[in-house]
Amino acid sequence: MRTPIAIDRRRQRPLHRQIYEEWRRGILAGRFAPGERMPSTRELAAALRVSRATVTAAYEQLVAEGYLDGHRGSGTFVSQELPDRALGPAGPSAARAAAAPARLSAFVERLGPIASREPSPAGVLDLSNAGPDLDLFPFAVWSRLVRRHLRRIGQGLRRHAEDRAGHEPLREAIAAYLRRSRAVRCAADQVVIVSGSQQALDLCARVLVDPGDEVVVEEPGYSGARQLFAAAGATLRPVAVDADGLLASALPPSARLAYVTPSHQFPLGASLSLARRLDLLAWARARRAFVIEDDYDSEFRYVGAPLPALQGLGDASRVVYVGTLSNAMFPGLRIGYVVLPSTLVEPFVRAKWYADRQTAYLEQAALADFIREGHLEQHVRRMRRVYKARRQALLDALDRRFGARATVLGDSAGMHLVVRFDAPDIATRARRSGVALRDTRAYYLGAAPANEFILRFSDLGERALGEGVRRLAG
Ligand SMILES: Cc1ncc(COP(=O)(O)O)c(C=O)c1O
Repeated sequence: MRTPIAIDRRRQRPLHRQIYEEWRRGILAGRFAPGERMPSTRELAAALRVSRATVTAAYEQLVAEGYLDGHRGSGTFVSQELPDRALGPAGPSAARAAAAPARLSAFVERLGPIASREPSPAGVLDLSNAGPDLDLFPFAVWSRLVRRHLRRIGQGLRRHAEDRAGHEPLREAIAAYLRRSRAVRCAADQVVIVSGSQQALDLCARVLVDPGDEVVVEEPGYSGARQLFAAAGATLRPVAVDADGLLASALPPSARLAYVTPSHQFPLGASLSLARRLDLLAWARARRAFVIEDDYDSEFRYVGAPLPALQGLGDASRVVYVGTLSNAMFPGLRIGYVVLPSTLVEPFVRAKWYADRQTAYLEQAALADFIREGHLEQHVRRMRRVYKARRQALLDALDRRFGARATVLGDSAGMHLVVRFDAPDIATRARRSGVALRDTRAYYLGAAPANEFILRFSDLGERALGEGVRRLAG
């Protein structure tokens, strides 16, 4: 008998597996038609010069998976039941069909691409990505706390299942931290732990936005929030910002939701004035709208005391307060929190439950101790001093090299600067002199001002910052 399949004895793969795979591939490619009679195990074993048991093992697997029908006595046949679409030659039209774009949901079609954040080539000074300085994080303390909870993990995990809103000791620790450091008015049962504040924003869109709803966003503003609301079908209502933050007098009457960054407007850096905070809260109360307060980097303020949160100012029943440990600790932790008006707690916990059940236990348990034992505030105090000095070094370098040709926007706060250069060739000069720069275009829905750039300072040393500015100045 000529064998319709071939095996290769030099391969590591067991022979029964090779026989199985050859038949399976042939059936899926349409080389063996439904109903076609298979060679008997005896015939095939002889033709391939393998034992009958080897062929039988392959056939049994093919029968079990539905590729073959085995009728005792009358032989074995290619199954009649195979779905047609799995058959047919894998010719050019099949390849074209495989390469054709998949039909996607309107939600994902509306999501823009992810901004590329490739590491800069060697020698390039990267002023484009702001983030915490990981070299200064107390990882020794962190790993001690993680190990502490790893030792008693069994006990912790049993409780975890019940903590649907997040690890209870962590919710207690965060509520106390927010009360003392941000003047947020909250109890632990209003706090929901999320996997980064980005998840909090996603849950806000799921819980509070229907297609066609109007959502106020800052212009310019955080594109990661805008994308989510637009993908949920919202009509975005951009409201301009100036040196006092969002122009609250321009809030549209018909919106259901406003997303704001009052402590440190992203990306321009203003803090929302008291008068406008009160206007915003009055607007929300009158329209029964909600305000999402994204307090993403408020720990880092370099003059005066940290500004109290909007949430603690007036009617907290209209404010969803969102915070994160990504900047105060490190983004890979993926832990954030939401403080909710009591009416929203149950819907948020439900949406979180169906999105990803709960945030991972071990990091939550270690974080509760990290906060309770004072390590978080100690680290924030230290980084505030470091970032303040770095910010000043960047400002000094800009002043020295550009003088009035560089206008710095925003308050003395945060982890990046926004600078408008009165030097039209700055992007070209950055490219030529080996500096990675990011302009602010991605944060505007409308046209962005020319030559407006984000300059990171938080994780670069003072010398590197000076060198970056020197290269830009040419
Ligand atoms: C303004 C703002 N909010 C929220 C986030 C989300 O951060 P995370 O999910 O790491 O907490 C970011 C991240 O870039 C941000 O810039």
